[in-house]
Amino acid sequence: MNNLNLKKLKLRNFRSHKSLDLDFYSHFIYFSGPNGVGKTNILEAISLFSPGRGLRGANINDLIKNNSGKLWDLFSIFKVSNILIEIEIGLDDKGRKNLRIDGKKKPLIYLTELFKIIWITPLMDRLWIGGSSDRRRFLDRLVMNFFPKHAKNCIIYEQALKKRNLLLKENEKDLAWFLAVEKQLALIGYQIDKYRREVIELLIEMQINMKYQGFLPILNIELDTQPIKSSEELLEEFQKSRQSDLKAKRTLVGPHKTDLLVSHSVKNIQAKNCSTGEQKSLLLSFFILSSLAISKKFGKPPIILLDEIVAHLDKENLSIFLQQLININAQIFATGTDIKNLEILPCNIQSYSIDWSENNSKVLLNKN
Ligand SMILES: Nc1ncnc2c1ncn2[C@@H]1O[C@H](COP(=O)(O)OP(=O)(O)OP(=O)(O)O)[C@@H](O)[C@H]1O
Ligand SMILES: [Mg+2]
Repeated sequence: MNNLNLKKLKLRNFRSHKSLDLDFYSHFIYFSGPNGVGKTNILEAISLFSPGRGLRGANINDLIKNNSGKLWDLFSIFKVSNILIEIEIGLDDKGRKNLRIDGKKKPLIYLTELFKIIWITPLMDRLWIGGSSDRRRFLDRLVMNFFPKHAKNCIIYEQALKKRNLLLKENEKDLAWFLAVEKQLALIGYQIDKYRREVIELLIEMQINMKYQGFLPILNIELDTQPIKSSEELLEEFQKSRQSDLKAKRTLVGPHKTDLLVSHSVKNIQAKNCSTGEQKSLLLSFFILSSLAISKKFGKPPIILLDEIVAHLDKENLSIFLQQLININAQIFATGTDIKNLEILPCNIQSYSIDWSENNSKVLLNKN
């Protein structure tokens, strides 16, 4: 397995951290400390080494440390296939996120070629009971790891959808306008549906080969719509739906309506109807399958960020879950309010205590 890990991280004027330098030597790094001291902020900083807005989905200007008067900047050294690479992320003078690799400017999408970063946050505890758009976004983010083109496809589709909805609202009579937008929607929509299904197939394949799952349930994973066979088929669907869409003033069919359905296979119960603890274990099973699939497809494990995952998990189940990720040799960054939760783990943990003093986060490396 190719060696991949984050060796060094420097945060400058990033949220609660004015200046923080960390050197990592372990595959399991744990940040503990009371509420509000800046633990999640560190994971958020790492998550920004992937395209997009990071694990909170925050506006990049909100990341600037209050009253610092300077822009935020993140510097890192990653070891990718035994080569050390310096990667810097920051804001340019137009307020856009930019990337430098070994001092040279690169497009952000280039990061996905180097490594994949995936995460679980407390917000995801509501994934199965929330609206379908949250689950679509969750799935699409995963799909982007496998097919970087999916990110652009989703943006183009959203833009075209807005155009069509505007035509519907304005009751546009010129059918040529509709046809032009629908053709674009159909072309991109077909690819979006195809990539989503290919990733779901991969997850299912991982599950078939998985040996020991402990408390982690076997999942049924599917989309709630039939596969789109071709862009022509989707175009026909948009055209057929035009009359009802005109009444509703929005587009009622297409991959932007698709929901990700996950159920507990043994109990045959939809995730949304499972208990709180069961919903968490469904999420963790899904996450493990995603990590395994990335590891298998790209020959190296993803970097994993676990923000406060202990809620609703007893020690034994936490250990079973983490062991699955340790087995694929993934580097894991986790946060929690108590270090004791991780005492049972067999691997070498690098742990930090974080506190708050003089209006700044103070990070201390614990001695083993
Ligand atoms: N732009 C910013 N400038 C300065 N401080 C900020 C900024 N954005 C957020 N913060 C502060 O960062 C702190 C939150 O940090 P973070 O979410 O990392 O805490 P945490 O240690 O994960 O806490 P919890 O245990 O509650 O999850 C808050 O005190 C918040 O006010
Ligand atoms: Mg937090």
